[in-house]
Amino acid sequence: MEFKSKIKTIEWVDTYSKMVDQTVIPYEYKFVNITSGDEMFNAIRDMIVRGAPAIGIAGAHGVILYAQELAKQNLSREDFVSKLVEKAEYMKTSRPTAVNLMWACQKQIEVIKSSNSDINGIIEELKFNGIKLENEDIQINKKIGDFGAEVVPKGATILTHCNAGALATVGYGTALGVVRSAFAKDNTIQVFADETRPRQQGARITTFELAMDGIPVTLITDGMCSYFMKKGMIDMVVVGADRIAANGDTANKIGTYTVAIAAKYHNIPFYVAAPLSTIDISIKSGDEIPIEERSREEVTYINGKPICALDGVNVINPGFDVTPNELISGIITEKGILRPNYIESIKSLF
Ligand code: MRU
Repeated sequence: MEFKSKIKTIEWVDTYSKMVDQTVIPYEYKFVNITSGDEMFNAIRDMIVRGAPAIGIAGAHGVILYAQELAKQNLSREDFVSKLVEKAEYMKTSRPTAVNLMWACQKQIEVIKSSNSDINGIIEELKFNGIKLENEDIQINKKIGDFGAEVVPKGATILTHCNAGALATVGYGTALGVVRSAFAKDNTIQVFADETRPRQQGARITTFELAMDGIPVTLITDGMCSYFMKKGMIDMVVVGADRIAANGDTANKIGTYTVAIAAKYHNIPFYVAAPLSTIDISIKSGDEIPIEERSREEVTYINGKPICALDGVNVINPGFDVTPNELISGIITEKGILRPNYIESIKSLF
């Protein structure tokens, strides 16, 4: 039985990009239309769209939007191409850690550079490629889900951190894609979702999307994971990834590393689920992954309300951490499950 998810996070519609506004979930489930390149840059930066594969597609759409704007400026084809490539390079800088963003913008740059068409033709080719990347994302996630479902024990409780679900991708999800495929075979499985401070993507987004698709989910705070592991209540961990180095070191939302250490201590399998576009073979280890520094307000406020912290207290807020490869039992990709030694298993795929 194939699992049918109700969620489509982002899609190209004629001349604009339509996306779920993730800043208002779970109170509202609404869509916004992004109609210019700069608006898309801001939507990625301000996390109206978030999650590594989703911001990749958003970046690809952003390049189409810039192309549409430049086409109105009566430029020569040569100037159009060079300005558009500049804009696509700029779009890559809207967030630093998730490599899918750079990957998808680069795919659009390749379309621009290899095209023999006139300006309108280039725009059509960019749209075609953007929609293709969108559709492929869902297909890839279903493959990740199906490979991952094979390692989910019967009746398992699966712990996840942050949101690597349908709402972090075009649809279906990576880590939650594994959950969806496993649930289609065995509806006795359930999910424990870490709240995921700051920004609460676990509490706000993971619980919302699993409930929407009818999959049982229990919310816990980040510090509780080892307590439940010790009690034997967690059978496996599956998380997503924002960038995986050539040796398997994996950047994901801050707090993932702590979960991986706890899982290792309690002998619980810890899996990363991600498409190949999240693997950055140009970097040898996680030390080279740029980690986004986010605002102090993400820590001192929750949903616009101040937490009980001393006024003006020092705050430091890295958005991601890197889980070393030795803590990872397997990396679930659309080509199968990679196992240690990751340097070898990753190399064999590229
Ligand atoms: O800051 P975010 O919300 O973009 O962080 C998201 C995560 O860390 C996800 O787990 C990651 O992007 C994996 S997406 C399938």
